[in-house]
Amino acid sequence: MESTGSDYLEFDQVSFSWPNGVNVIDQCSFSILKPGLWMLVGENGSGKSTLFRLINGVISPKSGKIFCSLRPSMVYQNPDHQLLMPTCKSELMLSIPKSVPYSNQFDLIQLALEKVNLGEMLDRPIHTLSGGQKQRLAIAGAIVSKSNLLLLDEPTALLDPQSQNSVLKVVKKLTSSSADPITAIWVTHRLEELYFCDGAAIVKNGAISNWNSGSKVFQALKTLALG
Ligand SMILES: Nc1ncnc2c1ncn2[C@@H]1O[C@H](COP(=O)(O)OP(=O)(O)OP(=O)(O)O)[C@@H](O)[C@H]1O
Ligand SMILES: [Mg+2]
Repeated sequence: MESTGSDYLEFDQVSFSWPNGVNVIDQCSFSILKPGLWMLVGENGSGKSTLFRLINGVISPKSGKIFCSLRPSMVYQNPDHQLLMPTCKSELMLSIPKSVPYSNQFDLIQLALEKVNLGEMLDRPIHTLSGGQKQRLAIAGAIVSKSNLLLLDEPTALLDPQSQNSVLKVVKKLTSSSADPITAIWVTHRLEELYFCDGAAIVKNGAISNWNSGSKVFQALKTLALG
């Protein structure tokens, strides 16, 4: 993968084990050198969520090195575990960096809501949002916080097809915008989503395969499932 900018993420021979001692992540090397929508698939327990914890720095490698000049934010499977405040506006206020002057805060929030197609929802109580709207609000929180690396851990697993599509479309737009594209890593068990990505890889035996097109990874997994 060729770099187009200065921000990047790179794993160099990273290993990690939880206290049971098994290397969940084992000599894992990969890089993401440009913005886009990068998808990871892999069996339950293969280490996808552990990888995300390593990327956002909640845990540290046992050996190897992680280089990350991007600013990561997590989006979880269940938005109710992430959204804390009564309204969209108060939720996004929580994510605003302290350095942003008060006079700019409203514009920042409004712009983030528009970017996730929730422009009319400023004062909407969060409990009245659909699952897809809640996930997009969580993504708006990442934008407000000036994150440029979204780590989405099965963000559509609890959504109906329409909401699933609304979240995919928003993340696709954010990662391919010509002005200021961000990077997203998207973990999924819903293989049809692979057709939307810029590259996909399989997490297996503690490591990540090479990046491939989403359709190639889809076909490879379907063939395995049928074989
Ligand atoms: N906090 C933890 N403490 C101890 N072991 C853990 C912890 N989190 C994960 N593990 C173990 O690490 C392994 C990888 O788990 P992980 O959650 O990273 O897999 P995953 O690929 O995200 O799976 P899934 O598709 O089910 O979400 C599993 O064996 C799991 O039991
Ligand atoms: Mg997981």
